[in-house]
Amino acid sequence: MKIINKKIINDVGGVKIIQLDIASGDIASKALAGQFVMLMVNDKGERIPLTLVNTDKSRGTVSLIFQEAGFTTQSLGKLNSGDALYSLVGPLGHPTEIKRYGRVILVGGGVGIAEILPVARALKGAGNHITTILGSRNKELLILETELKSASDQIYIMTDDGSYGRKGFTTDMLKELLSKDKYDLIYSVGPIPMMKRVVLVSREYNTKILVSLNALMVDATGMCGCCRVSVFGEVKFSCVDGPDFDGAGVDWEELEKRNKVYSVQEKHICNLFSAS
Ligand SMILES: Cc1cc2nc3c(=O)[nH]c(=O)nc-3n(C[C@H](O)[C@H](O)[C@H](O)COP(=O)(O)OP(=O)(O)OC[C@H]3O[C@@H](n4cnc5c(N)ncnc54)[C@H](O)[C@@H]3O)c2cc1C
Ligand code: FES
Repeated sequence: MKIINKKIINDVGGVKIIQLDIASGDIASKALAGQFVMLMVNDKGERIPLTLVNTDKSRGTVSLIFQEAGFTTQSLGKLNSGDALYSLVGPLGHPTEIKRYGRVILVGGGVGIAEILPVARALKGAGNHITTILGSRNKELLILETELKSASDQIYIMTDDGSYGRKGFTTDMLKELLSKDKYDLIYSVGPIPMMKRVVLVSREYNTKILVSLNALMVDATGMCGCCRVSVFGEVKFSCVDGPDFDGAGVDWEELEKRNKVYSVQEKHICNLFSAS
């Protein structure tokens, strides 16, 4: 699991978004859009899930794009080309259902933009008309615009402060598009507050919505129950039943609460290691 290439996509205010290309012919040969890997940076660390953003079967590599969020992603960000991961397991999770839906809107926010890229490419390849809405706080934080442009028929950029594209939220543009035209599917990945609002808009316009959930995961094989989410009142495990779910049925409040359950411990670990 050697890192072949490292690219810093963004470094704004010390928070980096990084791409790592990693040698793994086995994962590259099997991975499909919407699937993810579990990795460990070293033998003492936790496992974290990251989406398979790109796979190159001929080179036998997979690409991961991650934001330095806390201790493990910061440790991962310290590795360089030539270093090796302690472990990398995948592909995991159900692939996104790729078929000819017709007119599809993809909504990506923050680092979720990286996660919609493989789905955009696969849905375009299946003959769908792709409209992509990307959202970020400002121009500097926007990632993968060129890549998503080439996977889309139309693309709209929204920034909170209006420094690029249009000022406003992804949901403002989504509302505008749905009020003018009929679409067959919305697919969204991003921060929970954004996905929650995307679902509300989809309900208003009676449009099918799929979301990829970032539930906390420990083993990612359906054994521990850490990633459980409620969808239409039924308990589902994000790692083996998802990560894609019908957004209309997700209990967002429960997911938000569960994702914060270890925040005190995570902060403690970060402080401990930055002090040492
Ligand atoms: C299926 C899936 C795919 C993902 N793909 C990507 C991706 O492509 N790029 C990316 O940057 N991030 C992705 N994530 C989120 C990524 O796993 C977390 O950012 C990472 O685990 C944070 O670990 P940390 O120790 O650096 O931060 P922490 O200090 O643990 O937490 C920082 C933030 O990340 C959230 N988080 C922590 N641990 C997890 C976990 N195990 N699973 C989910 N969220 C967590 C916390 O709620 C908190 O908001 C994905 C999550 C899932 C479930
Ligand atoms: S992460 Fe343990 S059951 Fe899903």
